[in-house]
Amino acid sequence: TIVFLNGEFMPMAEAKISPMDRGFLFGDGIYEVIPSYAGRCVGFLPHLQRMESGLQAIGMPLPMEIDAFKSLVERLIIDNGSGNLGVYIHVSRGTDVKRNHAYPINIPQTVFAFTFEIPAEPVADKTLAKAYKVSSTQDLRWKRCHIKSTSLLGNVMHFQQGQDAGNNETILYNQDGYLTEASACNVFVVKNKTILTPPLDHQLLPGITRMLLLDILKQHSSLQFAERAIHMDEVRSVDEIWLTSSSKEIAPVIKLDGKAVGDGKVGDIWLAAQSLFCQHKY
Ligand code: PDD
Repeated sequence: TIVFLNGEFMPMAEAKISPMDRGFLFGDGIYEVIPSYAGRCVGFLPHLQRMESGLQAIGMPLPMEIDAFKSLVERLIIDNGSGNLGVYIHVSRGTDVKRNHAYPINIPQTVFAFTFEIPAEPVADKTLAKAYKVSSTQDLRWKRCHIKSTSLLGNVMHFQQGQDAGNNETILYNQDGYLTEASACNVFVVKNKTILTPPLDHQLLPGITRMLLLDILKQHSSLQFAERAIHMDEVRSVDEIWLTSSSKEIAPVIKLDGKAVGDGKVGDIWLAAQSLFCQHKY
């Protein structure tokens, strides 16, 4: 694996970061994961724009121009074989000699990027789709979930709750019982043929897959959809539940807390949505 660290490309084994890096000590950084298939990225620009707004939210600039990130990502994909790759980009506030909570002044940001293998490009096929089983629990993360922070402990702990229950993910609801997102995905549901997803606010990440899917539904389909608050009581009686993220696109959920979602099979609206996504995502 060839990685990028602070302006240079090198084998993973040669990439070294100081233990005084604020990314390591405080989780003080922002990250992105961009999917790429056979050298083509899905949503490159919106991913970089989200990274820029996340950095801005925590008082940092984008460390390089978007075009420089583009060349970096293109080179990293080629150097790693141009297959089915997730490109991970991480910008931390840099390495400080002291462990001081205050933002340091005039310290270069740490910029790290690597690729990892992701599953083959998703296809719209009910029998080939990986059907998910999910747990649900109250969202106990912080109140700034719209920032794609590298401090992922809250997400990791929630993800593990699902794993410990024998499931693949954990969907989350706020203290009033309203759906927010999942520990590493956004959530959509289908009720009476209408596709629903919670509106964007500080309780969830503005997912790029979520955004692309909503744009595609708007421009290329007559399927009904809406962004609105969804209570868990409602989620427990919907016909379909989907998870969306860069590495899985739209994933059908067939069980929630051990109970069948709808008829317990991968749904027809999922098939229509994933098929539209395959056609229009680039
Ligand atoms: N996860 N919500 C959370 C909490 C996430 O971590 C992610 C992505 C999403 C979906 O966002 P997008 O469609 O932009 O991938 C929603 C990434 C892939 C991860 O941490 O690996």
